[in-house]
Amino acid sequence: MFLVVPTPQAVADLVSTLVYQHIKAKPAAVLGLATGGTMEPIYAALVAKLQQQPLPLEKLTTFNLDEYVGLSAAHPQSYHYFMQQHLFAPLGLAPSQVHLPDGNCRNSAEECQAYSEQIAAAGGLDLQLLGIGSNGHIGFNEPGTPFDCNTHEIELTAQTRQDNLRFFADAAEVPTHAITMGICEIMAAREVILVATGQRKADIIAQLYTSGVDEQLPASVLKQHRNLKVIIDEDAAALLPTHLQQAG
Ligand code: GLP
Repeated sequence: MFLVVPTPQAVADLVSTLVYQHIKAKPAAVLGLATGGTMEPIYAALVAKLQQQPLPLEKLTTFNLDEYVGLSAAHPQSYHYFMQQHLFAPLGLAPSQVHLPDGNCRNSAEECQAYSEQIAAAGGLDLQLLGIGSNGHIGFNEPGTPFDCNTHEIELTAQTRQDNLRFFADAAEVPTHAITMGICEIMAAREVILVATGQRKADIIAQLYTSGVDEQLPASVLKQHRNLKVIIDEDAAALLPTHLQQAG
């Protein structure tokens, strides 16, 4: 389940190849997408591959995991903006093909319900890409989130706000809430790839390796998934048992 490769670039090459092959095999794929620093080199590599060897993308559909509450799509730290910049604009994906929760919605319960229904109407997710928070969150499903949740609004933990402070001017600007796909929708994806790079993730990756399935470590639920790959670089593998620390 754990695949260790030497560097973040090697992670990007491998994961972008897997996504590319997925789209090639199924042009009408429904992709679940993630944001965060870990995804940037992956999306850059995917864009480069698709520029070198184009595939038809008109039938592709995407759903992102999450969005901050209170940020408009035009806010440079919104996940709408991130996705537009790193993937949707370079690939020329139409607005009708891509989906993210609306962080500026008036009624969050209605927005969450509608997002869940859209995922279901698309036939569920074929391939879900995930990063991992330093506290083990996936999407923004923070520790303690029940595993039987669909898309919902969540209060971000102090740890997550601290981790994401680096993207904002100051602490007061970091949103306190987010809308996130739930564990149910993530677990229903037919294939899941969780990615982690860098020393910053070594501790949570080691915890994930040893942990049983536990709501206090949301990513641990993936141990029950039938088609999961955890793809990490050697820095993120540094605290795993010795035989797993180096690229195979
Ligand atoms: C955010 C996102 C997650 C992401 C995590 C890790 O909180 N909601 O989907 O996996 O951060 O981000 P990074 O890749 O920047 O470490």
